[in-house]
Amino acid sequence: MTDHKTDQILVLGATGKTGRRLVPLLRAAGREVRAASRSGEVTFDWGLPATWAPALGGAKTVYLVPPDDPGPIGALVRQAVAGGVTRFVVLSGRGVQYADGFGAGMAGAELAVRDSGAAWTVLRPNNFNQNFDEDLWRRPLRSGRLALPTGSVPEAFVDVDDVAEAAAALLVSAGDEHHGQVYELSGPRALPFGEAVGIMARAAGRPIAFEELTPDAYVAELLAAGEPKPVAVALNAMFTLFRAGHTSTPVDGVRRLLGREPRPFEEYAARAAAAGAWS
Ligand SMILES: NC(=O)c1ccc[n+]([C@@H]2O[C@H](COP(=O)([O-])OP(=O)(O)OC[C@H]3O[C@@H](n4cnc5c(N)ncnc54)[C@H](OP(=O)(O)O)[C@@H]3O)[C@@H](O)[C@H]2O)c1
Repeated sequence: MTDHKTDQILVLGATGKTGRRLVPLLRAAGREVRAASRSGEVTFDWGLPATWAPALGGAKTVYLVPPDDPGPIGALVRQAVAGGVTRFVVLSGRGVQYADGFGAGMAGAELAVRDSGAAWTVLRPNNFNQNFDEDLWRRPLRSGRLALPTGSVPEAFVDVDDVAEAAAALLVSAGDEHHGQVYELSGPRALPFGEAVGIMARAAGRPIAFEELTPDAYVAELLAAGEPKPVAVALNAMFTLFRAGHTSTPVDGVRRLLGREPRPFEEYAARAAAAGAWS
């Protein structure tokens, strides 16, 4: 019998919001990690299958961060299993089962690992807090105005540090009790975007407005800002899902995996503001 603690873990998306937090957590736990992405320590590109075998190396476990395009996922999962991978932990997203017009990569990754014959666990987090300072909402917040078609529906934003810790807990565990499980991860409470922006504005010590848009006006603003049409359409589809309320109730995945409450949004906002995110 092999000791899984010595098995290599391939972390895809290792430079992304969850991956770059997960890699040091796994290494601190004594695990050997292959930190992979196009610009990562190990080169991995979904669009270049020649990079897959060298990235997989001798890994037994894969943390799978899906690309937007589901096309290559099945082939990568099959190749991984043929090469000795016995377990996947997939980063998916809350409400993916209702998504239409976006989220195809996440849905494809869930399907691919379910069909793989390997052990699998799926994480379905809410929208990340860190979208406000590390991703698409940073620029509008810095400009003093965030405008979205939220329908005033609240979102149970989750902190990426909680997502990374949950993934690490799964990946360092023997895994058997988590096989076939789907864990939804949220923050401790749901809050409307307007309230979230108010919290960030107070933390940053400057006025930032939130404006509710119609879906059509949102797409028009994205196109005017130079976003490609498919991106604008996909983001709009995300808000259709969002307005249906599928991601607006807090859930207990963080407590189940980490034995503690999720980090509050206010803590995140204070930390990001202190680091100069919105000044
Ligand atoms: N953001 C959210 O709120 C949220 C919530 C729930 C679920 N999700 C899902 O989580 C996944 C990742 O989203 P994220 O926001 O965490 O993204 P992110 O922070 O931008 O990270 C994406 C990672 O993928 C890598 N990558 C991009 N293109 C690649 C390619 N062609 N080949 C190999 N690696 C590639 C990037 O690194 P390189 O550039 O170095 O390749 C990066 O490490 C998506 O499927 C998303 O739908 C996101």
